[in-house]
Amino acid sequence: AGNAAVSTGGRLQWSSRLTFILAAAGSAVGLGNIWKFPYITGENGGGAFVLVYLACILVIGIPVMMAEIMIGRRSQQNPTGAMATMAKEAGANPLWKGVGWMAIICGFLILSFYTVISGWTLSYTVSSVTGAFDTITPDAAGAMFGGMLADPAQLLMWSTVVVVTTMYIVSRGLHAGLEKAINYMMPLLIALVLVMVGYATSTGHFAEAINFLFTPDFSKLSTEAVLVALGHAFFTLSLASGAIMTYGSYVSKSTSIAKTSIMIGIFDTAVALLAGLAIFPIVFAYGLEPGAGPGLIFVTLPIAFGQMPYGTLFGSLFFVMLSMAALTSAISMIEPTVSWLTEKRKMSRGKASALVGLVLWTLGLGTVFSFNIWQDNTLFGKTFFDAIDFLTANLMMPLGGLLVALFAAWVMKSNVVKEELGLGGGLLFTAWQFVMRFITPIAIVVVFLNALGFINI
Ligand code: PHE
Ligand code: NA
Repeated sequence: AGNAAVSTGGRLQWSSRLTFILAAAGSAVGLGNIWKFPYITGENGGGAFVLVYLACILVIGIPVMMAEIMIGRRSQQNPTGAMATMAKEAGANPLWKGVGWMAIICGFLILSFYTVISGWTLSYTVSSVTGAFDTITPDAAGAMFGGMLADPAQLLMWSTVVVVTTMYIVSRGLHAGLEKAINYMMPLLIALVLVMVGYATSTGHFAEAINFLFTPDFSKLSTEAVLVALGHAFFTLSLASGAIMTYGSYVSKSTSIAKTSIMIGIFDTAVALLAGLAIFPIVFAYGLEPGAGPGLIFVTLPIAFGQMPYGTLFGSLFFVMLSMAALTSAISMIEPTVSWLTEKRKMSRGKASALVGLVLWTLGLGTVFSFNIWQDNTLFGKTFFDAIDFLTANLMMPLGGLLVALFAAWVMKSNVVKEELGLGGGLLFTAWQFVMRFITPIAIVVVFLNALGFINI
């Protein structure tokens, strides 16, 4: 019908291929591209890290995405049900269901800090609207960010707004409408990133940024950086967290899984690279530290908005769009948990959302305090936020991706997979299967063991 999605017993169904692509793109494009990618690239030395990241997207991320959409669509269920059903169909061990569990927990844990960072973008929206970036100096921009972090009450207020908004939308099953809005917001976000890239070319340090991002210097690449790049490939594509698998369960048979996955992969990567091109020229022009960490965009972008013509307008629009992009990602992260609660525990959407929101908010306190009163309470040198980030992106996601690859390529029946993927029966399918059987698992295992110090390559 004219609706983007219809609700069938608490379950959504995309009415068209385009809606699904928009929803999946809305899930993929978020803080991962614009906030996380630039700062981890800065922390890990630039070019070589970017190259490894691109390779991970291509040989691991996109093939795994195809597998997840396929498992979701064929089973028509939330991730635990999906894995259980597919294992049964293949006559395999029912324990494969655990992969679904891990994904749901992973998405949940990520969201506990994602809401806090989304809160930063909301706070910066207000700052921009009120003209706080106007001719701001690098020192003042640093102080502004530091001031926000030092104030737990303020951080908590913003993350509360994010949690409540997200859970409200999820409880009403309103994603469909929201995903339609993405139709307009995505192009606007891209246009704004392009404006920033345009401004960046005027700083006189654009070439330096290109060089930093695209000239690989492998001596700067640590074994842990390779794991971070691998983990980020999963994070940025919303894999191993239930999000894509759940959205996949709403996809119709006529959608080409392969084409869609490739499109989303390319699009998501393009946004990340553009964000890098917008931010690093400013970093170099003002002598900032590329490895400054999670505050990188929150210090560099205000300087740019404060300098450029119409900076208040562009800055406000930019942070609004970024908040919306973060919101659509947040929704996709929590949909697996809510759909599990409604389908398996027979809870109403409203109740499930309220419960989930409460737990999320509480867990989010750990991240809020990581930047102030708990900043010196570390475990293995990591704050609560660092620990959750490491646990999810660098451990759970690669492990989940590995298991999905093994399941799709070795456990599921070849003819079933062939029929689902839409790659045809020829070379393309054989290539996918070869990659997923051998390249993806071996790469993940090697990167893992190497970074954790079990082997040394
Ligand atoms: N892909 C999202 C981003 O890049 C984050 C995300 C992770 C969304 C896991 C859903 C699930 O911001
Ligand atoms: Na992303």
